[in-house]
Amino acid sequence: MIDREAISRIFETARIVEVVEEFVSLKRRGVNFIGCCPFHNERTPSFIVSPAKNIYKCFGCGKAGNAVNFIMEHEHLSYPEALRYLAKKYHIEIVEKEQTSEERLLNDRRTSLMIVSSYAARVFHENLFDSREGIAVGMSYFKERGFREDTVRKFELGYSLEARDAFTQKALKDGYREEFLVETGLCIKGEHGVFDRFAGRVMFPIHSLAGKTIAFGGRVLKTDKKTAKYLNSPESEIYHKSKVLYGIFQAKSSIVRNRKCFLVEGYTDVISMHQAGIENVVASSGTSLTVDQIQLVKRFTENITVLYDGDPAGIKASLRGIDMILQEGMNVKALLLPEGDDPDSFSRKHSATELEAYLNGNEIDFIRFKTKLLLDDAQGDPVKRAELITDVVHSVSLIPNAIQRSVYLKEAAGMFDMDERMLAETADAMRTKREEHRWTRDADRPAANLRDTPSGEPVAATPEETVDTRQATLREIEPAEKDLIRLLISYGNRTLFALDEETGEEEITVAGYLIDELRSDDLELQHPELRRIFEEYERYRQSAVVVEDTLFVNHPDPEISRLAAGLIEIKYELSPIHERKGAHVKTEEENLRDVIPRSLLVYKHKRVILLLDELSVAMQESMTGNDAERFEALHAQYNALTEIKMKLAKALGKRIF
Ligand code: CTP
Ligand code: MN
Repeated sequence: MIDREAISRIFETARIVEVVEEFVSLKRRGVNFIGCCPFHNERTPSFIVSPAKNIYKCFGCGKAGNAVNFIMEHEHLSYPEALRYLAKKYHIEIVEKEQTSEERLLNDRRTSLMIVSSYAARVFHENLFDSREGIAVGMSYFKERGFREDTVRKFELGYSLEARDAFTQKALKDGYREEFLVETGLCIKGEHGVFDRFAGRVMFPIHSLAGKTIAFGGRVLKTDKKTAKYLNSPESEIYHKSKVLYGIFQAKSSIVRNRKCFLVEGYTDVISMHQAGIENVVASSGTSLTVDQIQLVKRFTENITVLYDGDPAGIKASLRGIDMILQEGMNVKALLLPEGDDPDSFSRKHSATELEAYLNGNEIDFIRFKTKLLLDDAQGDPVKRAELITDVVHSVSLIPNAIQRSVYLKEAAGMFDMDERMLAETADAMRTKREEHRWTRDADRPAANLRDTPSGEPVAATPEETVDTRQATLREIEPAEKDLIRLLISYGNRTLFALDEETGEEEITVAGYLIDELRSDDLELQHPELRRIFEEYERYRQSAVVVEDTLFVNHPDPEISRLAAGLIEIKYELSPIHERKGAHVKTEEENLRDVIPRSLLVYKHKRVILLLDELSVAMQESMTGNDAERFEALHAQYNALTEIKMKLAKALGKRIF
């Protein structure tokens, strides 16, 4: 753990311009600096660095933060790793702080599991070179498959000896605890003792993003129908297979460099492609592709090319994967290999140049891919043809971005010789239907926690349902809460109402007004990080500290600093349009007496509407449950809230018109 003092030194010392300049070429523009955003593709610069506020902010993709956030995001480092990076850059000494016993216990467990895993990887790897059996069986297998020795070393491939407890005995003798050997799944504890899980298999270690061994895949050597070809480590505290991609550690820098990630099926596909010079490749080994895995790739690039075998199973998997990737807002292309080839066999048959040429020349966008796949089938059959078109439009309808959707619809319309508008309408209808489904499904759920109802009586909900409904509520309410916090940190110290000499009324600041208003209505912000900002602000005020926005922009919690940096305005002098934006900021500043109460009204109004929704669900429930008493109580709350809602709406109307 890094000591507190070093953390503040780092924040005080790190200059945002110096930090960013190492990665982005910046030009001075007025009081700020400007460059091309490193987090998304752009030709016209919209990435602003403000030395005064010590933050960066991209007006294209919305990424914002302080120096630590920048290093975390750009170098894909964790918070402590980013701090160490900056400490090194600025020659700040770090004194490692003692952990609490709880922290140590948790970390110790995870660390122990990783230590056992990397020990195992080393043992299996050394078997390939040092043991007679390993050389004769394991290494010959890899050689036969065409893996070079440098490849075997790069992926730390290994061999687990055939004797059924060879690894277990060695590990115990070397002082590794049985508990951790079993938890990682390397060993299995049965009635008759502890044995190796992977005995007699060649081993593919699976690495975390940071390169630590966290699990294994083990392949049998004999082709035996009875035993599974691959055996994988079970889930553990360090291995959640749905969140891991095989090869991501070895691929990540190449993915960033090439702005693209190839997605394949298996361990051997990844390895053979590496050997042939293509390093930006990962596999969703052992599971079908998950959203978490897609988002892992998204940290490095927006572009995925799915590369699967030409067999029917491969094609089916790739279609499902494509829709999921589209839904995450990424660009997806597909590549079919010649029939009978998988990426592994294809890479071995061709030279590096040939492989690269094939990959570049044959990837096609997903519409062409789907069409090519299905069109042969549909030739001359109007029903099948209609199905195919619907299928393609369905995929397009999953894309979150409207402009991208319309680009693809145009292409589809051209290919099928169909009316573009009609396809667009179909896609919209599909989207609406999904939305409806989502909402009615949500409405069927019991209400979430109604802590904030007038009676304060909580409504029971199972934890899972609470989480779900809460997510929906959060999405609804977040913009209004963000606006309040933005006003709080930007103008908190401004005077809203001056001291009145005649009546002797006290001066009220923006912060004072906002805090009092929310507190007197007993309204807690719903968004956890925004609520923390609010509460911390309140505490600072109580201890009479003048709260500057830098307090949050340089907050030790990276979630909060990123949020705060995104909320505060920085001067942006680019074009007349943006100057007008600057003018808008000015009017807001001059109109705080209108702006602040209005934002509060908007927020309260939203909250009341959400509460009413929740109440009506609860009322329905109590009706079906024949609980008349409860229904009455809820109904009374409902009426009271409806009245409040009407008052708020009226006040809002006055303010708007
Ligand atoms: N897989 C698995 N368990 C199995 C079969 C497959 O976990 N019983 C996973 C492995 O990650 C494997 C991937 O699915 O790499 C693809 O399977 P397959 O194409 O059968 O394996 P290959 O990688 O082609 O392996 P090989 O070439 O060694 O047969
Ligand atoms: Mn294969």
